[in-house]
Amino acid sequence: MTASTDRAAQKRAAAARAVAEVQDGMVVGLGTGSTAELAVEALSKRIAQGLRIVGVPTSERTRALAERSGVPLVPAGDWPSLDLDIDGADQVERGSLNMIKGLGGALLREKIVASAARRMIVVVDESKLVDCLGGRTPLPVEIVAFGWQGTLERLAALGLQPRLRGVGDQPFISDGGNRIVDCHLAEIADARSLDAKLSGIVGVVETGLFLGLASTVVVGHSTGIEVMKK
Ligand code: A5P
Repeated sequence: MTASTDRAAQKRAAAARAVAEVQDGMVVGLGTGSTAELAVEALSKRIAQGLRIVGVPTSERTRALAERSGVPLVPAGDWPSLDLDIDGADQVERGSLNMIKGLGGALLREKIVASAARRMIVVVDESKLVDCLGGRTPLPVEIVAFGWQGTLERLAALGLQPRLRGVGDQPFISDGGNRIVDCHLAEIADARSLDAKLSGIVGVVETGLFLGLASTVVVGHSTGIEVMKK
């Protein structure tokens, strides 16, 4: 087995384990990213076998996948309380289960859905586990388009080495019409204090620090599944 097929198998196993926790009648948050998409696919198989749930997608990409896969969605405009949210992550810190999310560009809706859910199950392969957040994975920060250069300067003043996400001179635009800045920083010693500092900057919409939100993290290892709980 190559490293990439091994990782794909780890993600698939983690997604299936999380979806096994979904019960009839639940309102379920549908995450964004390749691992969360495997969970949507697993959910769609259970729906075909008779499971009755409704989903709340965290991105337009996931909405399209859910519609294609026959996963019923909460009607636009309705905002129910969620029983469970299943989503991926870019980094998960062992112990605290704090996370960095947003490399897929959906952090704002992901955080809104995770915050509205009674439980959040995060599905990752083992490459996402770290002892301390930061380092090799940049921290995505969603900012409003208006005056983005000034917001970037304020982030730079904090020593975060911010880079506007995009290709050439075309900026990445989030589902909410905002921009994303990827901040390159060393290991984050105090994630709460950094989150508070970033949230206090005018122009910042939301940060990719997901602190205290995950109730369970399902990790796919080459040797099997690990379930970490808070
Ligand atoms: C999307 O905005 C992110 O928060 C994703 O959850 C994250 O990028 C994980 O994606 P993969 O499962 O593809 O690594």
